[in-house]
Amino acid sequence: MADAVHYFPRGFKWGTATAAYQVEGNNTQSDWWQWERTPGKIADGHKSGAACGWWGGRWREDFDRAAEAGQNTHRLSVEWSRIEPRPAVWDEDALDQYRQMLKGLRERGLDPFVTLYHFTLPIWIYEKGGWENPETIRLFERYVRKVVGALGDLCDEWVTLNEPNGMAVQGWVLGTWPPGKRDPRKLLTVMPNLIKAHCAAYHAIHAVQPTARVGLAIYTRGFEPARPDFAPDRWVANLQNNILNSVFPDAAATGSIRMIGRRPEAVPGLARTQDFFGLNYYTRDYVAFDLTQPAKAFGRAHFAPGDELDNIGFNAMAPEGFFKMMRWARHLRVPIVISENGWSDPADIQRPRFLLTHLRQVWRAVNFNWPITGYYYWTLVDNFEWERGWTQRFGLWELDRETQERKPRPSAKLYAEICKTNSISSDMAARYAPELMPKMFPG
Ligand code: FCB
Repeated sequence: MADAVHYFPRGFKWGTATAAYQVEGNNTQSDWWQWERTPGKIADGHKSGAACGWWGGRWREDFDRAAEAGQNTHRLSVEWSRIEPRPAVWDEDALDQYRQMLKGLRERGLDPFVTLYHFTLPIWIYEKGGWENPETIRLFERYVRKVVGALGDLCDEWVTLNEPNGMAVQGWVLGTWPPGKRDPRKLLTVMPNLIKAHCAAYHAIHAVQPTARVGLAIYTRGFEPARPDFAPDRWVANLQNNILNSVFPDAAATGSIRMIGRRPEAVPGLARTQDFFGLNYYTRDYVAFDLTQPAKAFGRAHFAPGDELDNIGFNAMAPEGFFKMMRWARHLRVPIVISENGWSDPADIQRPRFLLTHLRQVWRAVNFNWPITGYYYWTLVDNFEWERGWTQRFGLWELDRETQERKPRPSAKLYAEICKTNSISSDMAARYAPELMPKMFPG
């Protein structure tokens, strides 16, 4: 078998991604805190509880871990409900805690990459209709201005909204997230409101901080026709791609919101409101045309029979789908940041393979000179996974929820080698995922 080292470009950013609600604990002013307390909403009745204890100060030890493991950046989010627990009442202590965290990152040589909104709303906004209410656009803009004013000297790279596309589907199609509706028509209101909130935030940030780099992080999902020779399957796969993956980034590129069932809307100031594209990628579906599924845009999606699944069958391992998403994202003509990519695997049997095969695709992409500037593995330490509670474990470090003790999984060591050497290699594969050798490094 071949000895090989695949180097990444000099200055490539290596990090992990986290989100406030999932790691901080006790976000009692958030809509999700209420949602968790509604019976039947979270797998096994799990609660976020103290989560990873970050609000109690455990971010320090976790940032130490990230830095010692060779990472040079970290993506985290700030929690709107902490910063503005009541209308226009700003909690300066909360902002100060975030200042400490961002300083803590910088002191450890980690560049902060901050998400302003990662799925959770203050209860008072949720009660006024949340993203169904166009007033939330203005409220978001005001909040963003406040946060960037308070933290802008410590950070200049911002994600306005994390996965607004995925959130819209969960909240208004599947009904699995707040507000728990199964009413796809509402997407025609909610998605434009989110896009306009992004636009307003983009301009607000640049007004406060002209050098800022601002973008969206989008939940991308591969869609392949179940029967490639059958035109309706090809059509429906393409349609799903347009609906889920394209609406937000294309609107931010072109300035026009284009959704099926709604007249195209040109939004003043929206064109070119992404300085980079945040690409989150986890998995890929096969889609068959199915007339009985109008709510799912006539697509019946499934994983391929031979697909390797994660511990709860939520995602299928599909590195080639990742490559295709990076290729697709090039049409946006902005730098691409892999803002999330990860795998749930408590025993860490598959994860080393996941890391190496997915990073091989990133390496292929950068070798075509595609503008990929960094990679954020989801996630540093096991955390609260929304409606899936603690049933999923994406962490490089395992969390014992009783004791708050962290233990590195083998993947933590592998990822540290990758970050420190700015490369993946046959030697790493031989030691962490030898089954990959014949395919990945044939002699
Ligand atoms: C993404 C979310 C993130 C986390 C991972 C597993 O869709 O952005 O918060 O839950 O999935």
